[in-house]
Amino acid sequence: MTTEFCRRVGIENPIVAFSHCRDVVAAVTKAGGLGVLGAAHFTPAQLETELSWIDSQVNGMPYGVDVLAPQPGVGDEDGSDTTDLADQIPQQHRDFIEQLVERYDIPPSTGGAEPVEFSGIIVSRRNLDEQVEVSLRHPVRFLVSGLGPFPAEIVETAKAKSVLIGGMCGSVKHARRHVAAGADVIIAQGAEAGGHTGEMSTLVVVPQVVDAVAPVPVLAAGGIATGRQLAAVLALGAQGAWMGSTWLTTHESDVNPILVAKMLAAQSTQTVKTRCMTGKPVRLLHTEFEEAWAAADAPTALPAPLQGMLVRPLITRIFQNKVTQLMGHPVGQAVGFMNEQQTCRAVVEDLMTGLVESLEHVRSELGLDD
Ligand SMILES: Cc1cc2nc3c(=O)[nH]c(=O)nc-3n(C[C@H](O)[C@H](O)[C@H](O)COP(=O)(O)O)c2cc1C
Repeated sequence: MTTEFCRRVGIENPIVAFSHCRDVVAAVTKAGGLGVLGAAHFTPAQLETELSWIDSQVNGMPYGVDVLAPQPGVGDEDGSDTTDLADQIPQQHRDFIEQLVERYDIPPSTGGAEPVEFSGIIVSRRNLDEQVEVSLRHPVRFLVSGLGPFPAEIVETAKAKSVLIGGMCGSVKHARRHVAAGADVIIAQGAEAGGHTGEMSTLVVVPQVVDAVAPVPVLAAGGIATGRQLAAVLALGAQGAWMGSTWLTTHESDVNPILVAKMLAAQSTQTVKTRCMTGKPVRLLHTEFEEAWAAADAPTALPAPLQGMLVRPLITRIFQNKVTQLMGHPVGQAVGFMNEQQTCRAVVEDLMTGLVESLEHVRSELGLDD
């Protein structure tokens, strides 16, 4: 049940798990899929710790790292500090934050750690270089850019170490850009996905990207949580499924238990695409926080990275003080399939069993077994 992508990275099952949680990454790799650690939230020192821990768990089995390469207009590209940027936040927006504090009676910060669940991320070229440098000190098999293409120097250094380069995209245009910059694998993500997301659905974007970049292998992302869907994206020409949401409610996940409970209870209709977190469209769980930003009296979200800088301290206060109705999390429409807490291994096994059953079902439905 392996595809060319599986053979190239050295995995048994065509399943890739994107997660910020090292336990999920290690568990999926050990279950025969490919765990990919989302590095966006980590400082270089933290990333070093996380990757060393993964190395100690996976016994040489393959895993990957996903980093965010800054693009024009998205982040603080030259790595200079963000003090000047903060001056660009209008008073009207600061006032709106104060209104939310009063409306929900949100206590001040308790001084604890920032939550990783729901924060605006600011990316810079310096962050990227540091994260890649740390990653390439480890036996990483797959290095993925979650935004635009990697700069040429990074592609060159990674390839010199036989690390495969992946590029995440939501359109044919962006897929071609990744390939032109040296990507070995494209991840075509549909708008159903959790996190930053585009406009086209998985069913539409995957075959278009497969055709546009052939023979470069493509992984399908967005809305996939069952073996039936895995069979469907393989039929579209993908060589595997890249999943993010489905791992959030696993036993290994480090997501706040309040949010795990919300996700286990949520339907697929309870996610929204909003710019209120980072300034770019992000799909997340519906909450009163995002609803407040959609109301007529709310200011328009600022461009990235200003919106993230604006809301981050408030979100920290919301999480530290457990203001539950405002606590959200990026998650995709696949949330409607996430109804019971399972181990990562059980999720992988269910996906593979479901894949086999679906293929048998299609053969029998079409009379191919007669
Ligand atoms: C909580 C969360 C955080 C995410 N953060 C990133 C990220 O930092 N980098 C990235 O490339 N993709 C990120 N994504 C998108 C995933 O890589 C993946 O493409 C997406 O989850 C696939 O769709 P699904 O959520 O329906 O499985 C994130 C997704 C979620 C749910």
